[in-house]
Amino acid sequence: MATAAGVLAAPVPAVPALTPGRAAAAEEGATPAPGPAPAPAAASSSVPGIVKPLPAEWFVPRGTNAETRWDAFRDADGDAVVGRHVPVERFFVRNHTSTPLIDPDTWRLRLFGSGLRGGPTAEHPVEFGLEELRELPSTRISALIECAGNGRSYYAGQQGQPVPGTPWTLGGVGSASWRGVRLAEVLRAAGLTGAAVDVLPVGLDPDYVVGGTNYGPVRRPLPIAKALDDVLLAYEMNGEPLTPDHGAPARLVVPGWVGIASIKWVGSLEVADRPLYSPWNTDFYRMFGPDYPPGGGEPLTTQVVKSAFELAAGARLAAGRRHRLHGRSWSGAAAVRRVEVSADGGRTWRRADLRDEPRADGWTRWGIDWRPERPGRYELRARATDRRGNTQPERAVFNREGYLFGAVVAHPVTVV
Ligand code: MTE
Repeated sequence: MATAAGVLAAPVPAVPALTPGRAAAAEEGATPAPGPAPAPAAASSSVPGIVKPLPAEWFVPRGTNAETRWDAFRDADGDAVVGRHVPVERFFVRNHTSTPLIDPDTWRLRLFGSGLRGGPTAEHPVEFGLEELRELPSTRISALIECAGNGRSYYAGQQGQPVPGTPWTLGGVGSASWRGVRLAEVLRAAGLTGAAVDVLPVGLDPDYVVGGTNYGPVRRPLPIAKALDDVLLAYEMNGEPLTPDHGAPARLVVPGWVGIASIKWVGSLEVADRPLYSPWNTDFYRMFGPDYPPGGGEPLTTQVVKSAFELAAGARLAAGRRHRLHGRSWSGAAAVRRVEVSADGGRTWRRADLRDEPRADGWTRWGIDWRPERPGRYELRARATDRRGNTQPERAVFNREGYLFGAVVAHPVTVV
């Protein structure tokens, strides 16, 4: 049944796995050691509420979410299959509830509030349909989306500090090319005034209900300065219309900030001449704990520096030969300009070769040779520094919800 907001239905169950295609080999990588043959492609993992197939060799299901596997960036021979942008089929999904199916023809974006000329109300908002948005000047940007909880499992795994919430390893991140209209353009077209302070995008997904509390639809206020700076109201991802799981027909893309800012399936934008609040900038996505103010820190904004190897945890590598290790590093604050790698528990570090000109709108890909002589268990570490001098520390400062784990991650491998 179509509602006024154009929401057609709850999501359809995930369809069975397609065998993922392999892109052309791009370069030599860390070749797996001889050993037991990899298990045949398993059926799609099923995550209630996610529409797209989730082949087990690309994703790890995590509650209502799906984490991209870092070994899905390379094929079985170690050749790159993901370039600067992650294909939509392999992009991680973070849903508080479930993906709504929204009819793009009847969908309307509704703007109202005291920060717009004439103060339109929620009952009589300024409206745009998708075609009207497409008629506004369009922009294409590259940007990462990364969950604030990405890396959360390492608070327990590396620091002995268990935290609740989705136990992401490092796959709650992806980079894509986004096309849409600058939020500034939409706000101005709707009659933005100089009095506006906050913008509140509201998602059309089902209400978020936990422990008997209904927090309402997913929504998080955005300060007007950021909204007017570089935020995009996107309707395309990697050159195609947005797919249901990633926010169709339109979502925000808020570069450099925690993923919760990039509200999917936007139905309305309240523009107010006073600060706005929702559970997503008061209860959630703030830092609480002994090293933070008693009432909690400021609402989270910029992402921290992180690095990941394009390898499975526990990958097996052959002794006595050279391996090319590949990875990526990124930061919400600035381009990553230096990456160092250690294979001896952090005692010695070598500079990795950067494969990208450091850029603020994405990750920096890198590679380094490693020749382990003796069989055994090793831990690989990568540590990145961005252009503002932010470097990954040995330990992340604990916070109760396990947000922003930016410490160096120990990546286990077995040399045989
Ligand atoms: N928007 C809505 N409406 N509902 C959500 O659950 N999740 C947020 C954000 N936008 C969410 C949302 C979070 S926490 C993240 S990390 C990103 O969407 C994930 O975007 P993706 O699923 O396209 O990767």
